[in-house]
Amino acid sequence: MRFQCSNVWFYAFVVALIIFLLGSCRRDDPTPDCTDCDLTGIPFSPTPRTVQVPVDFPKLEIPSDNPLTEEGIALGRRLFYDNRLSADSSMSCASCHLPEFGFTDGNAFSLGVDGLFGKRSSMSLANIGFAFHGLFWDGRAAALEDQALLPVEDPLELHEDWARVVNKLIRSSEYPTWFRQAFGINDKREITRELAVKAIAQFERTLISANSRYDALFIRFEDFPTEEEQLGYDLFFDFEPAVPDAECGHCHGSALLTTNNYFNNAIDSVGSLTEFSDLGRGKVTGNYLDNGRFRAPTLRNIALTAPYMHDGRFQTLEEVIEHYNSGGHVTENYDANMHPLGLNQKQKQALIALLHTMTDTSFVQNPSFQDPWK
Ligand code: HEC
Ligand code: HEC
Repeated sequence: MRFQCSNVWFYAFVVALIIFLLGSCRRDDPTPDCTDCDLTGIPFSPTPRTVQVPVDFPKLEIPSDNPLTEEGIALGRRLFYDNRLSADSSMSCASCHLPEFGFTDGNAFSLGVDGLFGKRSSMSLANIGFAFHGLFWDGRAAALEDQALLPVEDPLELHEDWARVVNKLIRSSEYPTWFRQAFGINDKREITRELAVKAIAQFERTLISANSRYDALFIRFEDFPTEEEQLGYDLFFDFEPAVPDAECGHCHGSALLTTNNYFNNAIDSVGSLTEFSDLGRGKVTGNYLDNGRFRAPTLRNIALTAPYMHDGRFQTLEEVIEHYNSGGHVTENYDANMHPLGLNQKQKQALIALLHTMTDTSFVQNPSFQDPWK
């Protein structure tokens, strides 16, 4: 009898819980059924934007169905900084990609709207239009247009439904006009998530960083490096036979300061390749030998983007250099360019001095990239 009674209470509790959970679920607002949805009275004559691709950069691939226009870029910038993209209107893309931190957030793991931490560290968006070999630390998104769909619905990031975001945009007083000006829609209800992410991608393609001291010294030859900076450069690119090879340029080379390729840079000690707590590239390709490989990120603005690596394990550039100098941990797929470097204190300092030349103040302070809502 007692057993049955507690059973009844248990079921009553479960039913009450289900009712509570259903009640607290968010319902989609219906698409507005409006009388003032017509936008054809607003002129549509977008101004094409030509991007000056910096010296030695690869071609900027722009999808033919999403050409850059002034109106599209302006709209994308507003969306990028708009808290309405998150469930409780408290966060935007920029919450985790702040200009002053080289478009990262200065945290090892990024905090999402629900107060939950993501599993990886935010990434810089400098020269993101040139990431031609996959986006994210593991390359799981191919194009910026695909990528921008994800953070909005990610429970660890903005945790909002695109349908609800689109409704907020349709109902807002300004967005319908901006979508009309950028994409020529005729009716407010033609605002879609696809158009929203196209605009965000346009804005992202303008985030070009190529005006650091590094550019002046080693790409445009406008100035002379200090002795320390030159030593750092010779170490980084293995240019000077008289100093050790630091091997950095093999993975972080070219004017982009990344090859955009995937490597195991020996940060983890594992017995077998299945043991990485984050499989990285391997989870995407399903290839065992890709486990523990991550995309070598650009080192542009690296002095602004601490902490370092996909999980923010290193707090300082000094710690990063100590890791590389040690050669890291030997595993089945660690890269051949990872080995003890034998750098002395002066050489380590020179590498750090070189990394500091990669800070591009004119990029992080560019008025065109800041919050347009302020
Ligand atoms: C809660 C923090 C957070 C928010 C909000 C956020 N991001 Fe990110 N972003 C990250 C993290 C963390 C990564 C790396 C994730 C990974 O590799 O799995 C990332 C990666 C990216 C990348 C890939 C960069 C590269 O080099 O491959 C792009 C592009 C990007 N975010 C754009 C956006 C846009 C656009 C928005 C808004 C729609 C946004 N992010 C919102 C944290 C965030
Ligand atoms: C074998 C290729 C390889 C070599 C050689 C290499 N790196 Fe890396 N580097 C990577 C990869 C891959 C990552 C990202 C790893 C991760 O997060 O798990 C990385 C990350 C970094 C980061 C952190 C970036 C960030 O945004 O958090 C810094 C800084 C860095 N490397 C500097 C250097 C320097 C300096 C050298 C030379 C001493 C060097 N790297 C040599 C592949 C390499």
